[in-house]
Amino acid sequence: MIDLKRVIAEYSPDIKETESVKKLSDDLINKIKEYCRLQNINAEPLLVGSSSRGTSLRGADIDIFIRFQRSYGIREMENLGLEIGHSVLRNGVEKYAEHPYVSSNEFGRKVDIVPCFIINNAKERLTAVDRTPLHSEYLKANLTMQQKDEVKLLKLFMRKQGIYGSELKTNGFSGYVTELLIVNYGSFLSAITHISTLKGQLIIGEPEATKKFVSPVIIIDPTDQQRNAGAAVSLTALSILKLSGKTFLREPSDSYFGMAPVKNPSQNVDRGTTFYIIRFRRPEIVDDIIFPQVQKMISTLTRASKEYSFNIINTEYSVDEEIQVLLELETDILPSVKLHSGPPVESDNVIPFLQKHSGNDVLRGPYVMDGRIFVELRNTMNVYDNALNKILETADLGKHINKVKQEFKIERYKGKLPDLAVSTNFLSKRNPN
Ligand code: UTP
Ligand code: MN
Repeated sequence: MIDLKRVIAEYSPDIKETESVKKLSDDLINKIKEYCRLQNINAEPLLVGSSSRGTSLRGADIDIFIRFQRSYGIREMENLGLEIGHSVLRNGVEKYAEHPYVSSNEFGRKVDIVPCFIINNAKERLTAVDRTPLHSEYLKANLTMQQKDEVKLLKLFMRKQGIYGSELKTNGFSGYVTELLIVNYGSFLSAITHISTLKGQLIIGEPEATKKFVSPVIIIDPTDQQRNAGAAVSLTALSILKLSGKTFLREPSDSYFGMAPVKNPSQNVDRGTTFYIIRFRRPEIVDDIIFPQVQKMISTLTRASKEYSFNIINTEYSVDEEIQVLLELETDILPSVKLHSGPPVESDNVIPFLQKHSGNDVLRGPYVMDGRIFVELRNTMNVYDNALNKILETADLGKHINKVKQEFKIERYKGKLPDLAVSTNFLSKRNPN
């Protein structure tokens, strides 16, 4: 029998952690208040996010918002917000999502200090983060004590499957969406039961509000009927939740809960394919920019390779200090002859085609098959090394990766994979986890 109480206890902050988070956040809030008072800044700090409402797991971050009066201009509010952030976070670094804020790990956990405007309802919103304090109010009124634990269970379940987090690295379920799922379904088990038997999209909200959205998950933000809080969730993340929900309910086990997926690589055997691994230093840019860029690089390379008739059957990547991109090819050596199709013989273009292909690049032909003319040409790009180098010369791999193209280290592996992070990712791909 599975003991969900034990799971909750294992991953919840203990009393010591809860007290130190409380002390740290109180401390930061007091410092911010003091700074605003001394500098005559009309703004109020507020603890938001999971730490403010008892839905956080061990080691969770602290989210402090500074709410400015709307008489400030947007730039003024942002600049003052950054100034205040730096004044209380000694080692704070500025981050930009849709909106600038200061972030630091100096207290042994992530602390974000985010400026925004005070609003009473979402319609008054001037920046993307203004409604965040409204989320806190809504959840405080709508989540019961028991349901806070249910939120933790759902977060742990999603984390174990690698689908928790709305960042572009994950394209999964945000903390807020997880909480809204519990408000809607009542409990972890009820949420999993519903979602695992669901066909198609996950839709929560009045039809009037949901109908204008198209995405796998549509969850109307209760604080803003115009917003889909689930917009970031990919079809893959939703599908993994459906699948892992099914297998969990069939055979419940506490191995479905954890802070992160456990990598359990399959055996590294010769697959009869060829791997190319491209390695380069990670440009110093935030996850939300580098991850989509690496993904775009992979689809660009796959498409361009196809044009040279190289079939990439699998891809993988890892992003650490070094970025590693893996391409698995059916084969990296093609025949040195390729069949080139001409027009139907009845077409006016057939004579120009014959004239064009009369040189010594023709290996055989031209000849007729059924109604068309064909010619067999020499394929000078029949070795993938050459094709890939050619592709890399011209391909647009995104602004930041283009800059480090010259530093690419390209290695070819036939048979087993080398001992690299990207190989572990490749061999560990498995759902449910
Ligand atoms: P967090 O990402 O820290 O989420 O954003 P969280 O709810 O505190 O969950 P964990 O436990 O840290 O993982 C803080 C708050 O910012 C708003 C939400 O209100 C969230 O609670 N937010 C954040 C959004 O509305 N959208 C986002 O994409 C991210
Ligand atoms: Mn948080």
